Amino acid sequence: MRLEGKVIVITGASAGMGRAMVEAFVKEGAKVVGVARRQEVLEEIKEEVAAGPGQFEYYAGDVSKKEVCEGMIDFVVEKFGRLDSLVNNAGIMDDSAAAGDFDEERLQKIFELNTFGVFHAMKKAVNQFLSQPRDDEDEPRGSILNITSIGAQHPNAGMIYCASKAAVESATKHTTFMYMKDGIRCNAIAPGGIITDIFFNMPESEPKAKQKMGVLNMMAPTMADAQVISDTAVFLISDEAKYVNGQIVGVNGGWMVV
Ligand SMILES: NC(=O)c1ccc[n+]([C@@H]2O[C@H](COP(=O)([O-])OP(=O)(O)OC[C@H]3O[C@@H](n4cnc5c(N)ncnc54)[C@H](OP(=O)(O)O)[C@@H]3O)[C@@H](O)[C@H]2O)c1
Repeated sequence: MRLEGKVIVITGASAGMGRAMVEAFVKEGAKVVGVARRQEVLEEIKEEVAAGPGQFEYYAGDVSKKEVCEGMIDFVVEKFGRLDSLVNNAGIMDDSAAAGDFDEERLQKIFELNTFGVFHAMKKAVNQFLSQPRDDEDEPRGSILNITSIGAQHPNAGMIYCASKAAVESATKHTTFMYMKDGIRCNAIAPGGIITDIFFNMPESEPKAKQKMGVLNMMAPTMADAQVISDTAVFLISDEAKYVNGQIVGVNGGWMVV
């Protein structure tokens, strides 16, 4: 098993890519704590993956709140004694609005979840990793995997969403630079079009954006299912990827070259 005994916390665990990652991590023998707001869905997942070989526990809460980001790491350490990986996956989209017409409330809400929540969780996780003793300086202490978006480098959503993800890509590289000699790795997956509920939950696009996005989307590759993300995530948090650090891994079927 590729993640045997690894202790992982993952946000946005109740649906889409997060749920696919939980299933893949448990299948590879990890001890996983899933975080999301819908406790009843997390309970359902717990039953579904109960056969293992890994384990699943959950921590219900809103990761746009600093106290939840800190609480989930405390919970994992209390439960399993350490932390090996943090996967920041929870995120929401905007209405594709541009600089001239974005909504102020949406700016606040999206950054609180997609960006600030990720930063709070990273801070707590990095300090947890640093507190975990190691025998020599080649021994890994832990890794962070951030789920960003092709939109961070390609304007295929609204300005707010794209910028919220670009900030996380920058933080990913910064964290790599600052902690590469402390046994901490930090990478990101930038997905393209993945079939999940995110598109049903996003607000209606305003007409100008709809037209521009339509042109861009005409050239997009076919959408993929969430397993393309969980397969990549298993590799990036496993020891097979011990020399992969500071990378933004595009999983987009080639969309980036269009
Ligand atoms: N799907 C795509 O094509 C695509 C492309 C590029 C990037 N992404 C990124 O990939 C990530 C996963 O997206 P997805 O498509 O799998 O979305 P999804 O199916 O809508 O799932 C989102 C997950 O995030 C959780 N969540 C939302 N708000 C939360 C909050 N405030 N606190 C805690 N959990 C919260 C949801 O659970 P609860 O509702 O139970 O809280 C759910 O588990 C996101 O960061 C998204 O931006 C997606």
